Amino acid sequence: MDASHDGADQAHARLFTPLSFARGPAMANRIALAPMTTDQALPDGTLPPDELRWIARRAQGGFGLVMTSASYVQPNGKAGGGQTGLWSDAHIPSLAQLAQAIRVQGRVATLQLHHAGCRAWKRTVSDIVAPSPHAETGARALSTAEVEQVAADFVAAAVRAEHAGFDGVELHGAHGYLLAQFLSVEDNRRDDRYGGSLENRARLITEIIAGVRHACRPDFQLGLRLSPERWGMRLGEMRELAARFMQDGDLDWLDLSLWDAAKQPEDASFASRPLLGWFTDLPRGGTRLGVAGRITTPRAASAMLAAGAEFVMVGRTAILHPDWPRLARDPAFTPLPTPVGADYLAAQDCGARFIRYLHTFQNFVASEQVAS
Ligand SMILES: Cc1cc2nc3c(=O)[nH]c(=O)nc-3n(C[C@H](O)[C@H](O)[C@H](O)COP(=O)(O)O)c2cc1C
Repeated sequence: MDASHDGADQAHARLFTPLSFARGPAMANRIALAPMTTDQALPDGTLPPDELRWIARRAQGGFGLVMTSASYVQPNGKAGGGQTGLWSDAHIPSLAQLAQAIRVQGRVATLQLHHAGCRAWKRTVSDIVAPSPHAETGARALSTAEVEQVAADFVAAAVRAEHAGFDGVELHGAHGYLLAQFLSVEDNRRDDRYGGSLENRARLITEIIAGVRHACRPDFQLGLRLSPERWGMRLGEMRELAARFMQDGDLDWLDLSLWDAAKQPEDASFASRPLLGWFTDLPRGGTRLGVAGRITTPRAASAMLAAGAEFVMVGRTAILHPDWPRLARDPAFTPLPTPVGADYLAAQDCGARFIRYLHTFQNFVASEQVAS
């Protein structure tokens, strides 16, 4: 075997080595289930048995860390009809079943916390809020006291997640939702302490992080998901912010949601390296760096580790293959091509509602197989 084969073998083997965090349990491998909203929660935000089956199957399938779909922390932060809630203690029991199903398999159990901001679901949310008035959606600006309440409600939801038995939470600061709207130079035009400078635009996230650290037990894990571009993010700023958050030591991981982990930056002034490369060279302290986006094969996953990420997050491919980490033991594994039939997805423990939702993702479900 030649040297390049040895290198490839080593990179592949690294995927299956444990990853410790500054706090809480370690991942048994470097492969996480990406947070995915299944749209199958009940109208009150509690979970039906379908959600338990979906998550339990992925925990059995070998993901070192299993993250739930995004849970909204205030009633007006709901992004879709079937989204999971965590703004009330009534949401704890069904989430506790999820945490138990993940932990019983020896996986790290993580819950994602979310607020949709101006992207809230108009059908049930009448009071749509944002950092600043948003003409397109009609969202009104939050008062300073209301921003403080948002921070308090993220922290309260983290405490509920702790009571439900999760090892930790991830703050959804990506994809143009409320926390990202605050970071955005386009959506945030405030002149109080939550607007203006990068430090001010990041203050809501900073306060939530401090609040979770204060309110939850010392080994409770905390991660942050960021999108470094689009939605009014400036790559240079996001790099600065990532450096600060990683070195502060309050986060256990930073999760970069790139939609294509191997992509080039959209901003031409950063064209000299791939987007991920603008983050892998930052000093991290003890904060782990994860990445998501089109990581479909073990080769793509080990290439991300070789590029400097410490764990990978697998999304759509984990819908197709609940046991992707086991299949990925074969370095040559490639996933099924899409579209797939609704019956195939049902056999992978995707509920009927989730399958209907997946029809909105281009070329994922074969159109002649719409689940009724
Ligand atoms: C059905 C579906 C639901 C998603 N829901 C969420 C979510 O709740 N929170 C989040 O941060 N990202 C969400 N995402 C994005 C994924 O976590 C992931 O970053 C993205 O799908 C790219 O990874 P992939 O190419 O492996 O699918 C969702 C993606 C899909 C396909």
